[in-house]
Amino acid sequence: MKVIAGNWKMNGTTTGLKDMISALQNVDTENKIILCVPYTMLGLDSGRAFLGAQDVSTHDHGAYTGEVSASMIADTGAKYVIVGHSERRQYHSETNDVVRQKVSAALSFGLTPIICVGETMEEKRAGKTMEIIESGVRESIPNDIDKDIIVAYEPRWAIGAGLTPTTEEITEAHTLIANTLSSMGLSGTPILYGASVKDSNAAEIMSIPNVDGVLVGGASLKPDDFIPIITSVK
Ligand code: 13P
Repeated sequence: MKVIAGNWKMNGTTTGLKDMISALQNVDTENKIILCVPYTMLGLDSGRAFLGAQDVSTHDHGAYTGEVSASMIADTGAKYVIVGHSERRQYHSETNDVVRQKVSAALSFGLTPIICVGETMEEKRAGKTMEIIESGVRESIPNDIDKDIIVAYEPRWAIGAGLTPTTEEITEAHTLIANTLSSMGLSGTPILYGASVKDSNAAEIMSIPNVDGVLVGGASLKPDDFIPIITSVK
């Protein structure tokens, strides 16, 4: 069983989501399907898929105009939330410290966080890929958690770029994440790969050791693109 998660980013409509949910009903798969959609589309009956948000406030409630708390996300029936996506890190200056607070907020209201880590092109060129990944995992996850989390490796230079790392690079990154999680008492945590996943590369990527699924951006928006990714693996 693999986890196939879509990240719609700031795209889509409620009608489009309903169409996706109904198209997913007939798909023959045992994989877990998660759709992380804009807040405005949460609360729908999501059929066989699980819904998730794409960000969460560090605060529970109060005078924080425009923010949405973990309790509010949970109140819609959503089960997941992406935390620390590279676009949040890039455009909203989210650090590992902020991400860790958001992970705590999500966990305290029963949401499973999908925690993103990954290096920029600059960091990759400077030979810092492994260091960024390991510190991302160690610093973005609170100590002593006893609830489920998901980690996603998203090389930031490859997102939306049609670029993917080599099989060796993905293997190395996911092995490091698995070992780091294990040293934190979190072995068994699913580790997803994300960045330019599509029908043509999904099965190969998911055959790499320690790749427990994928986090798909652009190719998760339309059933014709997303369903072949879901059915590419058993
Ligand atoms: P793309 O699949 O569009 O590269 O986006 C990946 C991503 O950011 C998923 O969170």
